[in-house]
Amino acid sequence: MDKKSYYITTPIYYPSDNLHIGHAYCTVAADSMARYKRLRGYDVWFLTGSDEHGQKIERRAKEAGKTPQEFVDDIVAGFKHLWEKLQISNDDFIRTTDERHIKVVQQLLERIYEKGDIYKAEYEGLYCTPCETFWTERQVKDGCCPDCDRPVERVKEESYFFRMSKYAPQILEHIKQNPDFIMPVSRRNEMVSFINSGLEDLCISRTTFDWGIPVSFDKKHVVYVWFDALTNYISALGYGTENDELFKKYWPADMHLVGKDIVRFHTVIWPAILLAAGIELPKQVFGHGWLMLAEGKMSKSKGNVVDPLELIDKYGVDAVRYYLIREMATGLDAHYSEDSLIERINTDLAN
Ligand code: ME8
Ligand code: MG
Repeated sequence: MDKKSYYITTPIYYPSDNLHIGHAYCTVAADSMARYKRLRGYDVWFLTGSDEHGQKIERRAKEAGKTPQEFVDDIVAGFKHLWEKLQISNDDFIRTTDERHIKVVQQLLERIYEKGDIYKAEYEGLYCTPCETFWTERQVKDGCCPDCDRPVERVKEESYFFRMSKYAPQILEHIKQNPDFIMPVSRRNEMVSFINSGLEDLCISRTTFDWGIPVSFDKKHVVYVWFDALTNYISALGYGTENDELFKKYWPADMHLVGKDIVRFHTVIWPAILLAAGIELPKQVFGHGWLMLAEGKMSKSKGNVVDPLELIDKYGVDAVRYYLIREMATGLDAHYSEDSLIERINTDLAN
């Protein structure tokens, strides 16, 4: 008898800096789930990777005096080293600079274009480069990104737009018919009200920088980094190519495990892209909480990060893995401190 398949993914992290224990939490949680499902007899495919294009990376590379490719190669080598140290059992690692990925993104875009769901227009609005997100005047608070509070930039350029608004009713219906699609429930409610507040069409190409996948039917444009990134979940399975056995076997994904800040991309933009391309939707998007420091969210761009490699050297990999999974109540935020790690080791793990 064929084993039941189980496909689980982590977000593909930006190689704008080294990863911290917040990212390690997500990957360790996905790894624990993958191991559990394997023990239960599932045929598991566990994917992680790196999200390497976009304006943020281009700028970071420039600051470092490197080409974008040199810059990401170094940092991605660090990602792989960290996952090895953390004993992550991923079956594949997708880089968005992989040729196999680039081809699939271009084909997917062409497919949606030919269908008539992509049109050219002028984009004028606001952009948060750290989040790689477009915002409207209405959404921005005092000139700052509503997600990360950093200043947004005004952009005005010719762009291709994806008719995302057209898919709002279908997405809402899918959420209604599949109560497990967005978990936990608090995140589902948030997304339903987000969609109900009115979806706009999505700008899916940029012309003011180069570090991205060229739009095959208009080479002046590069693909918007979130369209590029989300496609990793199917490009890694060979979707649309001659080698699509993995896609046939494992899609639709059973679980996209992501942080709460990117649930919106996975439950609105990604389903709209898949609906437009006639591809089945993933079974579940689970939005986990954040690992916080006393002074707020740990983040690469704030520079207040805890390096998982240091903790592994000091306390051992099992203790770090155990701590991350035990300390985080799934879906909620948790506070990190070295004292709480030591406390866990002494009370739960000693002997
Ligand atoms: O968003 N605690 O990449 P990213 C827990 N490239 N999770 C945290 C965290 C913290 N302190 N800080 C960050 C991206 N994360 C895109 C993803 S997927 C198609 C593209 C989590 O490197 C965050 O919630 O900025 C997100 O899920 C993940 O790290 C990746 O962050
Ligand atoms: Mg981020």
